[in-house]
Amino acid sequence: MTKTYAVIGDPIDHSFSPALHNAAFLFLGLDCTYIAYRIPKGELEYGIEALKKINISGFNVTIPHKVDMMKFLDEVDNECKLVGATNTIINENGRLKGYNTDVAGFLDPIKKRNISPKDSDVLLIGAGGAARAIIVGFGKEKVHRITITNRTRERAEELVKFAQGIGLESDYLDLQSAGEIANRYKFVVNATSVGLKGIGCPISTKNISKDSIVYDIVYVPVETPLIEQSKNQGATIIYGWEMLLAQAMKSFEIWTGRPAPYEAMKLTLLGRF
Ligand code: ATR
Repeated sequence: MTKTYAVIGDPIDHSFSPALHNAAFLFLGLDCTYIAYRIPKGELEYGIEALKKINISGFNVTIPHKVDMMKFLDEVDNECKLVGATNTIINENGRLKGYNTDVAGFLDPIKKRNISPKDSDVLLIGAGGAARAIIVGFGKEKVHRITITNRTRERAEELVKFAQGIGLESDYLDLQSAGEIANRYKFVVNATSVGLKGIGCPISTKNISKDSIVYDIVYVPVETPLIEQSKNQGATIIYGWEMLLAQAMKSFEIWTGRPAPYEAMKLTLLGRF
C-alpha cells in the first residue's frame, strides 16, 4: 500500500520538502508520496488527529510547530530532548516518535569538508530555534567556546546559559563588536533570518578572514549578502542548502531505513533555486 508522508507548518506553500522527498521516492522506486499540509498555529492538535486518521507514515515539522509538537510525542530521541524541538516524526500505529535531524543536518556539511570543530571558537549569530540546534551540534563536537550575538540581548543570554548547561564555554557579544572581532573565530554561523531574499547582512564582514569558515543557514538566495561578502574576503563558505539537504536526507533515512539518494535530491533542490 502507498505510504504517505507530509510536512506540516505555516506558511508551507514554499516548502522544498515535497519536491525533495518525492524525487527520492521516485528515484528509488518506492511506493510513497509526500504532501505539504498547512496547519496554522493553535490548530496543531486537530492537525495531528487528521494525520493519524489518514494513517500518515511520518512527517516533518517546521515553523511554528517545532517546539509545540514535542508534547504530542509518545517517544523522543536524545537530540530532540536536548534541543527541546522536533522536526521529524515517525508514526507506528498511532504512536508518534520524534527525532531532530537539524542537529546532524547542520554538522553534515562540516564533516563532508573534513573540518574538525573540536576545540574551535564559534561566533553564532542568532538566538532562535535554529540557533539551539546548532549549539547542540557544536556541543557534540566539543568546540572550545560559543560566542552568541543577537539583536535582542536577553534571548542571546538565555542561549548562553543553555550552552553552558550542556558543558560549553559561552558568552554574549553585541552585533557591532561581533563584526569587529569576527576574525578571532574559526566558525561564523548565521542562524538568523537576515539575508533572506538577499536583504541584509547580519554582521559586518570587514574582518572576516580567509581562515574563517562562514556558514549561513539562510538558503534563499543561495548566495546571501553574508556569503557573497565573506567569499570576497577569501573565507570558506558553507551554504544553507547543504544543511537543508542533509536534514532532509536524515529524515528520509529514518522513515525508509535506506540511504537517501544524494544526487537526485541535490539536483531537485538546486533546480528549484
Ligand atoms: P528560528 O526558529 O528559525 O531560529 P526565530 O526563533 O524566530 O526563528 O529566530 C529568528 C532569529 O533571527 C532571532 O535571532 C532574531 O533576532 P531576535 O532574537 O532579536 O528577534 C533574528 N532576526 C530576525 N529578523 C532580524 C532582523 N531584521 N535583524 C536582526 N536579527 C533578526
